Amino acid sequence: MKVLVIGSGGREHALCWAISKSPNCDELYCAPGNAGIEKVAITIPIAVSDLSSILDFVKKNSINFVVVGPEGPLVDGLIDHLEDLGIPAFGPNARAAEYEGSKGLTKDLCDRYNIPTARYARFNEPNAAKDYIRVNGSPIVVKADGLAAGKGVFICYDDNQAYSAIDLIMTKSAFGEAGSEVVIEELLVGEEASFFVLVDGKTILPLVPAQDHKAAFDGDKGPNTGGMGAYCPAPLVTKEIADRVMNEIIIPTIRGAAADNRPFKGVLFAGLMITEEGPKLIEYNVRFGDPECQPIMMRLKSDALELLLACAEGRLDQYNIEWHKSAALCVVMAAEGYPGSYKKGTEIKGLDMASKENDVMVFHAGTAKKNMFIVSNGGRVLSVTALGKTIKEAKKRAYKAVNLIDWPDGYCRKDIGWRAIKD
Ligand code: AMP
Ligand code: GLY
Repeated sequence: MKVLVIGSGGREHALCWAISKSPNCDELYCAPGNAGIEKVAITIPIAVSDLSSILDFVKKNSINFVVVGPEGPLVDGLIDHLEDLGIPAFGPNARAAEYEGSKGLTKDLCDRYNIPTARYARFNEPNAAKDYIRVNGSPIVVKADGLAAGKGVFICYDDNQAYSAIDLIMTKSAFGEAGSEVVIEELLVGEEASFFVLVDGKTILPLVPAQDHKAAFDGDKGPNTGGMGAYCPAPLVTKEIADRVMNEIIIPTIRGAAADNRPFKGVLFAGLMITEEGPKLIEYNVRFGDPECQPIMMRLKSDALELLLACAEGRLDQYNIEWHKSAALCVVMAAEGYPGSYKKGTEIKGLDMASKENDVMVFHAGTAKKNMFIVSNGGRVLSVTALGKTIKEAKKRAYKAVNLIDWPDGYCRKDIGWRAIKD
């Protein structure tokens, strides 16, 4: 079978690596890919936003199955176009992808179907939004409604911060159209978890829950990033919590989405806050998390291609997902300066040595080849992921590999997994 993966991050490297192990994968392509993905797939220089070139490629090369990594092409309707061509594809169509594309849409779904989440209000006019802050006070959370690459969320501890966030989003249009509307929410207190389910239209199969570290610096301090590390399992998500998440959040969402004529297919990623009252939904993403996907793919024992194809073709009812018993942990290495401005094109050495470590995968994200060398080509650059009997052991292995990588222009957090490792 000929498979095409869309994307260029650590998540897509992990997906390509897992899919390439399947005996049914005859040819694997990735658009646009990166320098690491080149080792397991043929990379095609087509941007994820260039849907017409992707569709041309699919037709000309008789691709049998497409797996879409990032949210952009999902929200833009890539799955709808592929379905029109009769080509199986993994991911939701544009209408269902709007649950990530509009935070307000998801909040309204929660409201209609009694799904536990933070209290909220939606505004398309800044003065009304500020009046709401005046009445409700801080702390409060202000969010651009649309896609803002993880940068459109402001946790505001005083009212002035909240007014400034509204000005930045709505008056200064810092996120363009994504900020034409804001969602203002109650601040939830607790620990976060990432909960993933595969949905084929009828069957819902939970994957292993994970946790990521969004803040740039140790101790979960500093600006928010796309994610600086992740691990699974998530000890916080006990069997009891997982059952509550399924019954109170996931199942009502999937039913509600279908009733609202947005039936969901693909992977639904619930960002949760585990509060004293129980799990509450922060937001939905309609794709795998990055970096959560990397440890999840390393623990997956089942054939990844078969699983994702069964999901796309509505056959999950015949599926029992198998996992390695071990834990997995991923450390993200980012360019110095990320998530602010950073240099590209800096040389990275030691990758081969790090990759030779047992039970370690060095997944690439923002990397490129320059002459014979691997250089940085983005903010998050590598996802060093290891298996271990425990999270603690996986952490030790991951950092051993990180220390073999010689990249003076990069940095990583030193404490990934700290919430899960008690001693
Ligand atoms: P989102 O893009 O909506 O997932 O928000 C990004 C991050 O902001 C989340 O992972 C949380 O750390 C934080 N966050 C968002 N909404 C809330 C909330 N209502 N209460 C507390 N933290 C939040
Ligand atoms: N790691 C969080 C995300 O992928 O959005």
